[in-house]
Amino acid sequence: MRKTALIIGLVAGIAVALLAGLGTSSETASADAGPHVSTGSDATPDKCASCHRLHSGQNEFLLKQAGSVEDFCFACHGNGGPGSYLAVEEGTSYGDGAQGLRAGGFEEARIDTTDPNSARPAPTPIGYAVTIGVLATKQEVKSQHAVDGSAGTMWGYGVPGTSGAGISNELECTSCHDPHGNGNYRILRSVPTGSDAAGYTIPDTYPKAAANYTTSNYFNMNHDVDGNGVGDALPGALPLGATPAPGQSIFVDTSRWCSQCHTRYLAQRNTVVPTPVAGSVDPNASRMDSGDDIFTFRHTSAGWGLNSSAPSGVPGPNYGKATFNNRACITCHATHGSNASMPGKPAASPAPATHYSSRVPWPDGSTINPENDLERASLLKMNNRGMCKKCHSAQ
Ligand code: HEC
Ligand code: HEC
Ligand code: HEC
Ligand code: HEC
Ligand code: HEC
Ligand code: HEC
Repeated sequence: MRKTALIIGLVAGIAVALLAGLGTSSETASADAGPHVSTGSDATPDKCASCHRLHSGQNEFLLKQAGSVEDFCFACHGNGGPGSYLAVEEGTSYGDGAQGLRAGGFEEARIDTTDPNSARPAPTPIGYAVTIGVLATKQEVKSQHAVDGSAGTMWGYGVPGTSGAGISNELECTSCHDPHGNGNYRILRSVPTGSDAAGYTIPDTYPKAAANYTTSNYFNMNHDVDGNGVGDALPGALPLGATPAPGQSIFVDTSRWCSQCHTRYLAQRNTVVPTPVAGSVDPNASRMDSGDDIFTFRHTSAGWGLNSSAPSGVPGPNYGKATFNNRACITCHATHGSNASMPGKPAASPAPATHYSSRVPWPDGSTINPENDLERASLLKMNNRGMCKKCHSAQ
């Protein structure tokens, strides 16, 4: 047996033993079980030893085994779920049979990336007739956040107007998650490591039964709060001029959170509102020049925006109000990784053959795809540009 495999095998064994002491994962109603719960003022926390060795640490964090942080996390969250039902390596939850995890996966995922269901007449898919289903058999991912500690470009970092397309950053699981627990949604760090941002805390108030780590429809990422097995409808409009607060919409919260690293991707809907919110000119509006040389005009992505629609010149009921929507990072992208591919179209359907999606240059103009995304699939949830058709069915 190879040495690394042996070490990881041992760690997995210890993890299972640890879990046996805590109660098996299928018995835990909440994923706040496990070693990540912040112990606060507890003087005798019995959890440090599940991960650290004080005199015989195998890396600079005094972790009990050598290897990357990724390998360390996979000792419990790897294939088969050796120490947690959340097997993120293969995009699968074993909480209740084998189901697709919300965030996709790092090596394999279960997103039905060719789901033909779309067909909404107008680009306003507020209802959720549209679906991206879940595959019974997992598939290899084509793109993922590279968590092997190698450097990649953190696209769009910096306020609009910053020079360059982003900065170099070494990403690890712990760039985004706090292994010690912090009381936040999915133990996400308020300030992702390397972002140097002001901080955005997603409160841990969204439901977190085992079923809420999975989805039956990757197009509707809203949580199933009422427990009917389907992601909920969006919350209603806010009062005039109001801004959503943390905890109201997972779309708004995750978009703001992702944008601490990918700052210049965040764009709100129709933010230049004439009246009644006079003078609210926001550089984050999608239909305004952001002033940035690269990210100049941007598709809406904030999960909310001000409604300035005034059909036939008569303002509608939500005119000038903030309304929630599903144009958010996690609607189009799988957070960890996606099995979507960008094969283009063969000559037969219809001629000539096309290869557009796979050949989109990167924001810095480069055309060489990195190792973690050879097809330029960019964590999207549908093959080619199938995402567009989910909302813009007529085009
Ligand atoms: C689930 C595994 C896990 C548990 C349990 C755990 N740690 Fe850690 N700890 C880590 C990892 C992983 C890192 C490296 C963090 C990084 O990459 O930024 C770390 C880093 C640290 C650091 C370095 C500074 C920091 O916060 O990054 C300290 C100090 C620390 N741990 C103390 C503790 C103590 C004390 C306990 C028990 C109360 C504990 N840890 C429990 C995984 C764990
Ligand atoms: C010793 C085993 C073990 C290790 C090592 C471990 N985890 Fe976990 N993790 C768990 C368990 C157990 C749960 C709770 C879910 C369950 O019961 O399976 C969990 C839950 C989580 C959750 C969901 C938390 C929430 O608030 O909903 C995240 C995120 C997570 N782990 C990330 C990580 C990361 C990142 C690492 C590596 C730094 C890591 N884990 C290492 C066992 C582990
Ligand atoms: C770029 C940031 C980022 C990185 C890197 C990252 N995660 Fe996550 N992770 C998230 C976010 C955001 C969510 C919540 C997704 C949601 O609920 O829609 C999440 C969710 C999870 C969950 C809950 C299951 C799910 O699919 O929702 C676990 C467990 C987890 N992450 C573990 C890990 C481990 C282990 C690693 C490294 C191998 C890792 N994460 C790397 C951002 C990250
Ligand atoms: C409506 C769908 C959609 C939404 C919403 C969306 N993206 Fe994208 N994203 C794409 C597509 C398509 C690409 C491929 C490149 C392109 O066409 O610009 C992409 C590419 C990217 C890339 C790779 C670099 C690049 O620009 O090509 C990053 C990083 C990214 N998106 C981050 C985000 C973040 C962060 C959010 C939320 C603030 C977000 N995206 C919201 C569709 C979307
Ligand atoms: C800690 C900073 C950080 C956070 C937070 C973060 N990213 Fe990234 N992201 C990166 C880095 C660095 C890269 C480039 C290296 C790589 O692909 O892993 C990247 C790459 C990407 C890409 C392009 C991947 C490809 O292969 O084409 C997309 C799309 C993306 N991120 C979307 C998101 C979304 C959506 C979120 C929120 C759920 C998010 N990111 C949160 C740092 C971050
Ligand atoms: C989640 C639904 C959704 C997806 C997916 C989506 N769009 Fe949109 N798009 C909209 C809506 C709604 C608008 C109208 C502006 C608004 O209110 O956000 C819009 C506006 C636009 C516009 C006009 C510019 C603007 O800001 O009004 C273009 C061009 C566009 N989309 C192209 C695309 C392409 C290309 C894709 C695929 C990569 C795509 N869209 C994916 C919902 C979506």
